[in-house]
Amino acid sequence: MNDSRGSRIDTIRDIVNYRYNNIPDRYLRNEAFIHTHGVAQAAALIAMKRGQNVELSVIAGLLHDISRYTTGISHEHGPNGSKMAREIMRDTDLFTESEITEVCGAIYFHSEKKHHHLPFDEVLKDADVMQHLTGDPLDPPTKKDLERCRALAVEFNLAWEEP
Ligand SMILES: [Fe+2]
Repeated sequence: MNDSRGSRIDTIRDIVNYRYNNIPDRYLRNEAFIHTHGVAQAAALIAMKRGQNVELSVIAGLLHDISRYTTGISHEHGPNGSKMAREIMRDTDLFTESEITEVCGAIYFHSEKKHHHLPFDEVLKDADVMQHLTGDPLDPPTKKDLERCRALAVEFNLAWEEP
């Protein structure tokens, strides 16, 4: 493992931002930045509340949609993003294989909002939903996110009105 002057979060954030800067469509580029950094911050909050690994939750948030936004393909973006995230994390030489497995596992499953996986995986799924909920509070959640919105409203004591 290399020594790094910045934090591991900074390193991953730089890589993600660099790749997003190359997204040609400015609307998609804006969405990529807003959603990704919102999910990373929501992941920190949720991980702190649930006693999960905060640093790795933020990193999972930063990398979770890397495939969707850099290729423009949403289909199977969990598994595809997991593969891209694994390469990125390995290339930094800053993470152990078990850390990479943990982060990439969460990314792999993050679109499966109706299923439950490991507590660490659930942080990313809920962070994804929480960013949609707080990124535009006037935009009603999709049907598939509704159950998780209800649970987050209870867990975080939110004055959220179900549409
Ligand atoms: Fe997402």
